[in-house]
Amino acid sequence: MALSDFPRHSLTFGPSPVHPLDRLSTHLTPAGGGPRIWAKREDVSSGLAYGGNKVRKLEYLVPDALASGADTLVSIGGYQSNHTRQVAAVAAHLGMKAVLVQENWVDWPDAVNDRVGNILLSRIMGAEVRLDPAGFGIGFKDSWKQALADVEARGGTPYAIPAGASDHRLGGLGFANWAHEVAQQEQELGVFFDTVVVCSVTGSTHAGMIAGFADLEAAGGRPRRVIGIDASAKLEETRDQVERIARRTAELIGVGRELRDDEITVLEGWAGDLYGVPVDSTLDAIRLVGSLEGVILDTVYEGKSMAGLIDLVRAGEIGSGSNVLYAHLGGQPALNAYSALFR
Ligand SMILES: Cc1ncc(COP(=O)(O)O)c(C=O)c1O
Repeated sequence: MALSDFPRHSLTFGPSPVHPLDRLSTHLTPAGGGPRIWAKREDVSSGLAYGGNKVRKLEYLVPDALASGADTLVSIGGYQSNHTRQVAAVAAHLGMKAVLVQENWVDWPDAVNDRVGNILLSRIMGAEVRLDPAGFGIGFKDSWKQALADVEARGGTPYAIPAGASDHRLGGLGFANWAHEVAQQEQELGVFFDTVVVCSVTGSTHAGMIAGFADLEAAGGRPRRVIGIDASAKLEETRDQVERIARRTAELIGVGRELRDDEITVLEGWAGDLYGVPVDSTLDAIRLVGSLEGVILDTVYEGKSMAGLIDLVRAGEIGSGSNVLYAHLGGQPALNAYSALFR
């Protein structure tokens, strides 16, 4: 099967916008001759509860959920999960229910961590929010199995969506499609993005891109680098998950060859010691991009991947003549639980 054979339920306004970040590019290489940095904006691509990368993944899970006869989407994440907020929005939009297990993934002492931002939005949208004290982990949890069983016990039909909609047969398709969308936008803009930088935690965003770009390459497209920046602080787990999902997705969409190891790059160095806890480079990146571009990044994901991009440009790893595409995957609602850092 090819990617275009998979049913897709549109949840976005259309292709996510792509634009240059020229003040940032100039700031990082003031003498000129450096790379040109662009952003592709998943944070403004949908009208569903501030959007984000999960909306695009869910476009491919929704037809499967509807075909299964489900009436309740069941998923899991941290208290400030962007993913569960997007599941709640999609459920509301479809007239379904949502049950969300919200675990204590981040030991973050903000008094309103379990009340503002993403979790507040999920509650507004009518989701059943279940707080659970368990810590960070992207695997399958008992609390999630319990939520599925509870929906069945009360006569509902659940549809199971794992953390980040990642470890799911169809989880990589949304961002494989993103790669095809990039190729289309390159034609329109007359530019080639030789390097893509993306934040990676549960893995299917990055993995989908890898499979999608391999698909384009198989059809004669030019090769490019897709650099994942780890924000999980559990590099091995994230890398394994990216590799597994990338290979599974490549096979699913008929890429027709094994992915090479060098196509799967997850870099460490910007996550700090813990998922969800920003470090100095995260906050510097957030302030820099906010003050130069008016573009808002979050403390859990995008601030970390942008810190990686900034350092790679400064070190010349992303060099002159390059057009580098930063995947902005959303996540701003969580900032509300980090207000103390910006007082
Ligand atoms: C804003 C944001 N950026 C990046 C990511 C990482 O994406 P993935 O979990 O697909 O690796 C997530 C979700 O985990 C997210 O919500």
